[in-house]
Amino acid sequence: MTIIYGTIVHTPIKGQLEVLLNALLLPGDTKVHYLSDFQFIIPGLIDTHIHAPQYPFTGTCTDLPLTEWLNKYTFPCEGKFEDTEWAKTVYNALVRRLLRNGTTTAVYFASIHLEATQILADTTLALGQRSLVGLVSMDRNAPDKYVDTTETAIAKAEKFIQYCLQKQQPTRLIPVITPRFIPTCTIPLLEQLGGLAKKYNVPVQSHISESKDEVAFVHALHPDVESDTTLFDDCGLLTNRSIMAHGVHLSDKDVQTMAQRGSGVAVCPLSNAYFANGLFSATRFFQQHQLKMGLGTDVAGGYSPSMMNSMRQAVISSSFWQDPALQVDWKTALYMATLGGADMIGLGDVIGSFAESKQLDALMIDLRTPNSPIDLLWDESIELLVEKFINVGDDRCIIDVIVGGKFVTP
Ligand code: GUN
Ligand code: FE
Repeated sequence: MTIIYGTIVHTPIKGQLEVLLNALLLPGDTKVHYLSDFQFIIPGLIDTHIHAPQYPFTGTCTDLPLTEWLNKYTFPCEGKFEDTEWAKTVYNALVRRLLRNGTTTAVYFASIHLEATQILADTTLALGQRSLVGLVSMDRNAPDKYVDTTETAIAKAEKFIQYCLQKQQPTRLIPVITPRFIPTCTIPLLEQLGGLAKKYNVPVQSHISESKDEVAFVHALHPDVESDTTLFDDCGLLTNRSIMAHGVHLSDKDVQTMAQRGSGVAVCPLSNAYFANGLFSATRFFQQHQLKMGLGTDVAGGYSPSMMNSMRQAVISSSFWQDPALQVDWKTALYMATLGGADMIGLGDVIGSFAESKQLDALMIDLRTPNSPIDLLWDESIELLVEKFINVGDDRCIIDVIVGGKFVTP
């Protein structure tokens, strides 16, 4: 058995940090780790929205509005995952990078390819990352080489669900119904995907009310439909396991509907800054509707595969609200990146904070590693150490990564 002894920090309540000094964690191998003064443990980070096949162009190509960006860069880049060797190379590099950055659970959009998506699922299992993986469904408004018919899309989605369920790892590998977004899906496709979500009782993910051009595109396709929310709801795609990315242009009525269904939003502050034409009302939607929320990187709409950057940008973006009461502080950002995200993706009883009844997904942080970006501290209270790590730290300060009690540090 490994026993970890030292300072443990988590956010069991939104906006509040709980510090446990001289605590013991019992993950399950043989050594005792005594944490030193500049070391502490936090829960593993949960990326609730990331596009795995977009990893190769992360950090480039964010110069166009969303729908043009999809056509010029995204669809061609995702189309390459027909090549399974390319999928192995990229997915191996990505999952290792995410683990190194402290992402112990990721909710992935893959591509429309069955084999490559199976490779992504296998890679997360092999490297020890917890994952929710979706084969992307689309049957229109995409290039001829990168689109399915409704029948093929449904057949592939169902095969992928069965592939994951047959691994029997219900808290490790969860298949997700993944209509890309309304513009690339016909109504029959959306309805049949809603049917699959019900038949297999699996989560759903998509993009919702993301940007002005996306909202206009949906309005042009469906002039009689009130919003993305009403259409998803009519097709059975708003469940208590729905993870909807962005939501910047949701109305209060939409949010009320989502909250009533138990659906949540994967807030992606970095990509919202590039593509969304607005700010997400995180604090207000939480206060008024108790909307479930997690944070996502949205690689490659977001330039960074690190949840540290999502947390920072969540704080920065919220500072543009004039009313200080609407701003998100770093503790709330940490909550959204851990327990908030866990609750939103239906794993709140399993991960997200430290409790005897939960599995142990954790990061061992050390602010004094040889290459640490943190040189000086003017005060050594635990809260300041954690704040410093959140704002200035990076993978050089994450010395170990634990998933389900096992060390999976890449
Ligand atoms: N909407 C539809 N597809 C995408 C995507 O790949 N990224 C983002 N940010 N929005 C989308
Ligand atoms: Fe996205």
